[in-house]
Amino acid sequence: MPHVKLERRGTTAVISVDNPPVNALSHAVREGLMRAADEAEEDRSVQALVLICSGRTFIAGADIREFDQPPKKPYLPDVVARLEACSKPILAAIHGTALGGGLEVAMGCHYRLALESAKLGLPEVKLGLLPGATGTQRLPRLVGAERALEMMLSGEAIDAQAALDAGLVDRVTGSADLLAAALGYAQELSEIRRVRDLPVPPAEPEIFERARRKIAASARGLLSPEKIVQAVELAAEVGFDEGVAAEREFFAECKDSPQSSGLRHAFFAEREAAKVPGVGKETPVREIQRVAVLGAGTMGSGIAYACLGTGCRVHLLDSDADGLARGEATIRKLFEGGVARGKLTEHEAADGIQRLRTTRDYADLADADLVVEAVFENMAVKKEVFGKLDTVCKSGAILATNTSTLDVDAIAEATGRPQDVVGLHFFSPAHVMRLLEIVRGRQTADDVIATALSLAKRLRKVGVVVGNCFGFVGNRMLYSYGRENQLLLLEGAAPECIDRVLTNWGMAMGPNAVGDLAGLDVGYKIRQERADRPDDPRFYRVADRLAELGRFGQKTGAGMYRYEPGSRTPVPDPEVRQLIRDEAEHLGVEQRDIGETEIIERCIYALVTEGARILEDGIAARSSDIDVIWINGYGFPRYRGGPMHFADTVGADTVYNKVCEFRARFGDRYWRPPALLERLARTGGRFGDL
Ligand code: 3HC
Ligand code: NAI
Repeated sequence: MPHVKLERRGTTAVISVDNPPVNALSHAVREGLMRAADEAEEDRSVQALVLICSGRTFIAGADIREFDQPPKKPYLPDVVARLEACSKPILAAIHGTALGGGLEVAMGCHYRLALESAKLGLPEVKLGLLPGATGTQRLPRLVGAERALEMMLSGEAIDAQAALDAGLVDRVTGSADLLAAALGYAQELSEIRRVRDLPVPPAEPEIFERARRKIAASARGLLSPEKIVQAVELAAEVGFDEGVAAEREFFAECKDSPQSSGLRHAFFAEREAAKVPGVGKETPVREIQRVAVLGAGTMGSGIAYACLGTGCRVHLLDSDADGLARGEATIRKLFEGGVARGKLTEHEAADGIQRLRTTRDYADLADADLVVEAVFENMAVKKEVFGKLDTVCKSGAILATNTSTLDVDAIAEATGRPQDVVGLHFFSPAHVMRLLEIVRGRQTADDVIATALSLAKRLRKVGVVVGNCFGFVGNRMLYSYGRENQLLLLEGAAPECIDRVLTNWGMAMGPNAVGDLAGLDVGYKIRQERADRPDDPRFYRVADRLAELGRFGQKTGAGMYRYEPGSRTPVPDPEVRQLIRDEAEHLGVEQRDIGETEIIERCIYALVTEGARILEDGIAARSSDIDVIWINGYGFPRYRGGPMHFADTVGADTVYNKVCEFRARFGDRYWRPPALLERLARTGGRFGDL
């Protein structure tokens, strides 16, 4: 089937694009558009053209999969130019989303008609790119430089009405038949209007300075936002063709950058994560309308709030009356905060709150479709809770645990229905963090996994299915990363130095600030319970000593750092430096100056080696799943594509050689290279190709 068809409707030629699922501008579509424009132009009886798309959306962009291949003619800017050059009026009829190259094609048309429900945007920045098919020069001509910058730097789409108000579209229709509306509109058109011929409305020079300041604060070190600002500046200063030539250069530079490669990898990795062996379209999904959340603490209240956001009824249970009241108050505050920030209407908040019930009685959970347990991290408590759930919950209810480290199979054994038990590992704050680790137990049923994945979508989270082991994927790797941080402290790197180096490298927070935020007591308790703790007195020594001193982090005003009352800003603490020096001396660890490169390599390669072991053990199905987990749950820089993609970027041989060097320097205990890493290094392989 051709991806682009040309039909005659009276005196109008209709060019329709049909390239499911999102009508991406593949090579075949670009060729088809060129041909269709030529044919319609040659046909003397044609007076106007309509460009429309089949399926769920207008063109959603260039075909991102083609970016890793050599470019093939016709190039997209030439296609856009061809449409614009038409000697007869050409109208884009937009439904769904007109994104990236799709919106650029629409801006190449002389007129734009959008359905009320349509969205339009240039999201290239999210892929480390800038619009590369003349969009940076067209959008400012239509909506002004300031609005264009706002749209391109945020990458967020705007709705049809906003697009009409801004001048990006010419008409909005509520018609159920977009083609009919477009054909009617086309009859009215006689004039050719080319965006390239419009002047860029005058703009205050400060808007560029403001944009740069914003980038410096929120997109530090990223290439494409800076290039977007430069391109829009040029649009205001030079002619269209000169601006387009510069845009092409900028686009090539961005496309070939490791940042864009990392961001494109993350885009596909998140979509890949939804494809799970044994779970397909045919796998049934259990209905989830009534949710019960056990434990009204930090996690339980956030999970309950997130579930209320999906329209479910939620029963919140806690054994402690005060804890329950605190949890309910937290949830109310979250709703109020949502209203204050304009994220929710008063009505939505009231509706959410009235769907919440609190209880201390397990009998109230009898009709729950899904139970999420978030009580204390203790196996005996979890088993007792699951035993009770087994007696009260209806048959077919999904019984989920939010444990961060405990054995999901052991918890499942406390019930007579292990097939219904699954790990749903939310991240703190549960209503904010995008990651949901879905832990498949030995006996978890496929439809439970399918339901968990669909729940993740409803929660607007990325669900990643992982196997059952200590810490699953994310926390198991965190354990290795944290271990190196802790050893580096003993060896002489200050907490604030490690945090600065790793945040400069791109991590959202440094490991020491994270420890203080999460609470040093939490990790301490988990380590105390572990039977397989390495026989190494240096292992998490500093964190353990601080926890034993009651320095739990932000909640006690002191941890790895100290905190002024009411402040969350970490302040380096000479007492901690002294404690570390004393511990190092006591253990006979010689302190030295440690360079930035070593800090980065030891922490990040510790992640990569543990990730490789996780793949060897089959705990993650794909290395890209590990990347999704670290990007969305642990603040790993998205533009580096996740730890495994990063390893592929530097090369498995480079990582392997460094790991061998660390083994020679620091011994076998932590730096024995995994067989998988060694194999990839020897064969020139990549984690991404496994
Ligand atoms: N190229 C190739 N494949 C694409 C694609 C694209 N631009 N956009 C989506 N897909 C694929 C997805 O990978 C997925 O494939 P799969 O089913 O095999 O996993 C499938 O289309 C459906 O995508 P989603 O699961 O994301 O579907 P949704 O309905 O949830 O969302 C969407 C649809 C809003 C269009 C979303 O897919 C999206 O945001 N796509 C990316 C849009 C984009 O970034 N466009 C700009 C591209 S860069 C560009 O145009 C450069 C130009 O300036 C030169
Ligand atoms: P928390 O201490 O804030 O809350 C636990 C709540 O459970 C308390 O309100 C307590 O009264 C209640 N509770 C204890 N035993 C109970 C029982 N038998 N029946 C009913 N309620 C009971 O704990 P938090 O931090 O919310 O952690 C809960 C779970 O979530 C743990 O398994 C933890 O490992 C996990 N988790 C925690 C994360 C975090 O950052 N805090 C992140 C991800 C998972």
